[in-house]
Amino acid sequence: MYVCNCNGIREREVRAAIDAGATRPADIFRSKGCQAQCAKCVCEMRQMIQDNREALAFAAE
Ligand code: FES
Repeated sequence: MYVCNCNGIREREVRAAIDAGATRPADIFRSKGCQAQCAKCVCEMRQMIQDNREALAFAAE
């Protein structure tokens, strides 16, 4: 499934970028060598980053 239609970034690519240390949508775009265009995907990317943070915090408890 695509998260970013403008740049063709798939969900698994966003997850890989987050696992590699991306903490902001800009980091995810940079990891794919592109940048935000319409920015409709930024909210979903932020949510995925937040979900990952919460999962890590839960795992650390
Ligand atoms: S959908 Fe990602 S920049 Fe447009």
